[in-house]
Order: sequence, then structure tokens, then C-alpha cells
Amino acid sequence: MVIKSAEYLISNVDWQKCPVADKPEYAFIGRSNVGKSSLINLLTSREKLAKTSGTPGKTQLINHFLINNQWYLVDLPGYGFAKVSQGQRKAWERMIEDYLRKRPNLMNVFVLVDSRHTPQKLDIDFINQLGEWNIPFQIVFTKADKNTQLETSRNTKAFLNKLRETWQFLPASYVTSTVKKSGRDQILAFIEEMNAR
Ligand code: GTP
Ligand code: MG
Repeated sequence: MVIKSAEYLISNVDWQKCPVADKPEYAFIGRSNVGKSSLINLLTSREKLAKTSGTPGKTQLINHFLINNQWYLVDLPGYGFAKVSQGQRKAWERMIEDYLRKRPNLMNVFVLVDSRHTPQKLDIDFINQLGEWNIPFQIVFTKADKNTQLETSRNTKAFLNKLRETWQFLPASYVTSTVKKSGRDQILAFIEEMNAR
């Protein structure tokens, strides 16, 4: 898919204030600092479209972007950020749960997982929760440039194996690096295919 235009639209805490749900929508979620905003910039080839930061907790709201005047891309805040109060965490969970379960045009959620680590309970639990809510998702392993190929392959396999304990069929997964600019075409091809349905 050629990205002809990519514009920031609006940030919300409330799913009901999100843009009119008249276009297919794709959301990016995952642990704080996993690389969601960076991946969005890679996908759109716009270096500064989504705000990125070395400090976890940068993205705090539901951020809508309009791509090619045809589909919405959504940058979500990360989960598992240690430095937040119980109250903030509950508010976050409510905001995300409402958005994920109620947004009618949500086509797919890309769950980002750091390829440097062995399977983390937090990610597995989040994915299993998506399953209970019947929300379609795929997995994006990030920061592949930080490992050797062998380490990446080991970690991604271990993660998918862990999912097999609860899932009979595994969703598609991608390996990405914003440094090597890899994984972009595969994700965009899937979105293009979904948009055509
Ligand atoms: P929050 O909004 O805080 O939840 O973080 P996020 O998931 O949006 O992460 P963000 O894109 O802000 O990236 C966090 C840090 O990881 C930044 O310092 C990025 O430069 C770095 N980063 C993201 N993707 C990659 C990657 O593929 N390779 C490398 N080496 N660094 C990456
Ligand atoms: Mg972010």
C-alpha cells in the first residue's frame, strides 16, 4: 500500500468522542515503551506523526490518525507502566476496555511484543483477555534489531508456543524493526486486504 496521506486527527479519553466510525480502523497496543508510536511512524513513513519517547508512558490517550482518507490508525497508551497509581491504572483499563469492546469499526488490534524478552505474563494475559472479548488481533514483535536473528527466532517461537496453551489457532505475527525499517510491507499488505473486504 502506498501511503499518500497521513494526518493526526484527535486524542480522546472517551471512545464515544472518537471520529465517526465510518472507516475501517486498526489499533496498536502493547506494553509501555514497546515501540507502538515508532511503528506507526514506520508504517506511515512520517517520522514525527506519533510522539515517541525513551521514557515509558508517553502516549496517554486514544490517538486517531487518518490514512489515505480511507482508514483510521489508532495509537493507544501502553500497559504495564510501573509508575502509575492504582487509580490511574483502573482509569486506563476502563478507557481501553470500552474502546476495544465498543468501537464498531475496529477491524484488528495489533498487539506489540518486545522481541528481546522471553514470554511475559502481562502480554499473554492481555492477549487472552482480547480472546475473551472476541476482539480480532495479530502480534507484532518489535525491536528485532536489538537481538541476533537466533535470539529473535527463539523468543518469538517461545511466545507463540506459550499462546498455544490457550489458543487452538494462532493469529498471524510479524517481526519488525524501526531501525532496519522491516516488517512494514507485511503489516500494510494485511491492512490493505482487510480494507478491500
Ligand atoms: P508509550 O507510548 O510510552 O507506551 O511507548 P511506545 O510503545 O509508543 O514506544 P515508542 O514508540 O515511544 O518507543 C520507545 C523507545 O523504543 C524509543 O526510544 C524508540 O526509539 C525505541 N524503539 C522503538 N522501536 C524500536 C526498534 O524497532 N528498534 C530500536 N532499536 N528501538 C526502537
Ligand atoms: Mg507511544
